[in-house]
Amino acid sequence: MRLPTRHLLGIENLHPRDISALLDLAESYALLNRSGKTRRDVLRGRTLINLFFEDSTRTRTSFELAGKRLGADVINMSVSTSSVSKGETLLDTAATLNAMNCDLLVVRHKASGAPALLAQKVDAAVINAGDGMHEHPTQALLDALTIRRHKGTLEGLTIAICGDIAHSRVARSNILLLIAMGSQVRVVGPPTLIPSGIEQFGVSVFHDMREGLRDADIVMALRLQTERMSGGMIPSAREFFTFYGLDAAKLAVAKPDALVMHPGPMNRGVEIDSQVADDMTRSVIREQVEMGVAVRMAVLDVLARTALRNA
Ligand code: CP
Repeated sequence: MRLPTRHLLGIENLHPRDISALLDLAESYALLNRSGKTRRDVLRGRTLINLFFEDSTRTRTSFELAGKRLGADVINMSVSTSSVSKGETLLDTAATLNAMNCDLLVVRHKASGAPALLAQKVDAAVINAGDGMHEHPTQALLDALTIRRHKGTLEGLTIAICGDIAHSRVARSNILLLIAMGSQVRVVGPPTLIPSGIEQFGVSVFHDMREGLRDADIVMALRLQTERMSGGMIPSAREFFTFYGLDAAKLAVAKPDALVMHPGPMNRGVEIDSQVADDMTRSVIREQVEMGVAVRMAVLDVLARTALRNA
């Protein structure tokens, strides 16, 4: 397969055909990973740099693992010990890495659009690992793969995305992907955490958890992104949990086989109750992490092939 561009900056530019093909390839990597046959040489001789200006556990580690499993030389740049701390700009940092002939640049940044800006300036294929409140495309792909493995399809499913929609790049990428693939998407949260006009993306808006979760196939809880909030958007974490925290009582109105998802990191007792998060009959939160490695292997594989064909 081949993507329309040599970068992965968002779900926005992907055709449903591209999404399905990426998920198919990721599924094959998921099976290989489970069988223990993890080594491939698709990226042998290629260099991947992880450039994270924001903290990460899952995304950075899984890109590192994915790159290594495909045979790439992987470098994790620690921004706090790099020359960024001496005032070097984002573009100068990228130009420096570009001069070292890096092939794949995985970027996380607090500013929306930072990976797109870098993509115009470097020769490497740029992958958006989360930019501000804009997009987190590989998270949406791994969420879609997890859902598809359990439900067989994304088409026709009712998916409730709950909590802090306004500040969530995960919500935005998931909405774009799931609507493109034919799901019915609901966003559920307090008015202060749901952007006005979000209906234009094709979602339904709910301010009551029990209404929003009724007969849902998938319930996805999101972290409160307090680091991106200016001013008090909720009265308190405790009150938020009372009305919008995903607990067994609220989940009871969803379908009996509804899956519980969370992109992590979780704030237990704020957006999700431990009993629900750890219920292995409903929660696929650990599987989401596992699928993160497979999806990132698929993305790196496809981008490397796309770049080779364009060379
Ligand atoms: N879901 C997610 O992006 O997690 P990290 O911040 O740990 O990478």
